[in-house]
Parts: sequence; C-alpha cells; structure tokens
Amino acid sequence: MCADGRKVRLRKAVPADLSALEALESLCFPSDRQSSRRSMSNSLRSPTQSVWVAEAGNTAVGAMVLFVYPRRLRIYSIAVALGHRDLGAGKRLVRLAKALARRGRREAVTLEADVRNNVLIDWYCRQGFQQTEILEDYYGPGQPACRMEWACSRNRREAAL
Ligand SMILES: CC(C)(COP(=O)(O)OP(=O)(O)OC[C@H]1O[C@@H](n2cnc3c(N)ncnc32)[C@H](O)[C@@H]1OP(=O)(O)O)[C@@H](O)C(=O)NCCC(=O)NCCS
Repeated sequence: MCADGRKVRLRKAVPADLSALEALESLCFPSDRQSSRRSMSNSLRSPTQSVWVAEAGNTAVGAMVLFVYPRRLRIYSIAVALGHRDLGAGKRLVRLAKALARRGRREAVTLEADVRNNVLIDWYCRQGFQQTEILEDYYGPGQPACRMEWACSRNRREAAL
C-alpha cells in the first residue's frame, strides 16, 4: 500500500508520463546522476529500452528504466518518491524486472550500483543479487560502480512467481 493508503499499480510508461518521470529523476537522484528530459524521452521511444511506472491513484510515485539486451535485462535506473518509500514499491519494480527477464527467456537481470552506497547494495543483495565485478571510474574518475546480477537459472522458482 502507498503512504496515503492507496494501492500502487505498475504499468508501462507512455509519452504522457515524461514530465512525471523528469520530476522523479530530479527528486530521487543527485544532479550529476539524473537523466535529462531528452534522454528520458529517448528511453520512452527506444525499442531497446522499457520504462515502467509505479502509480498511486493517478500519480507516478516510482519509475524503472530497463535496457533490453539479447541475453539480459539491465536495470538502468529505479526510483521511488520520498513520501512513498519503504512500502515495497521498489521491490515490486525489481520483481517485475526479474519476471520480464524470465518471460523473455533471458539469462539474468544486471545493474550497476555506486560501491559507496552500501544501503543500496544490501537492498539488492536481499533481493538475490550478487556482486560480479567492479567497474572503475564508472561514474567518473575515482568513482567506481559494482555490477550486480540476478541469474534466472539460479532463481527459477522466484522468477516464475
Ligand atoms: C532504492 C529505492 C528505489 C527503494 O525503493 P523503496 O520503494 O523504498 O523500496 P522498498 O520499500 O521496496 O524497500 C525498502 C527497503 O529499502 C531500504 N531503503 C530505504 N532507503 C533506501 C535507500 N536510499 N537506498 C536503498 N535502500 C533503502 C529500507 O531500509 C527497506 O529495507 P528492508 O528491505 O529491510 O525493509 C529508493 O530508496 C530510491 O528511490 N532511492 C533513490 C534512488 C536510487 O538510489 N535508486 C537506485 C539506483 S538507480
């Protein structure tokens, strides 16, 4: 349930969501890690990306951008608005990514996380992700990321849910 008691619904984003997605970016990410409006617009139109919205009533309270590769889905970004956090919306978006990977017969869901963000890395670990490699200078000089992976084959039962 959402903070105001209404249920959160997940749906595919449409072009009319662009402003809401832009607002979520600016609320949830530091300015140097935000996708621009133009980049969000490209994501919405791209055949190799898939954008999802978590909606409470008619308000977009969360979003997820997936990159679709032949063998894997990559969570490029995931965000939930402050007043709606800790209520399970983020986990539901991650679960959706896993289900989509499985449905598309892909091997894994991957993502990159800032190595300094232990809270976030722990959050993904609790959802079955494992750290697979360190990507030096990923966010800029001296700012590494770790790549994390959730393998469909190792998690067959959960992916089927
Ligand atoms: C990470 C994020 C999407 C989680 O969304 P959420 O809807 O609050 O997640 P859930 O309610 O499903 O899970 C809550 C859990 O996240 C933990 N959490 C709270 N704030 C968090 C944060 N800033 N980062 C990571 N985890 C956080 C809570 O402790 C809680 O732990 P639990 O699993 O033991 O209960 C949300 O905190 C967010 O938008 N953060 C800013 C953007 C970001 O860093 N995105 C990820 C990189 S692209």
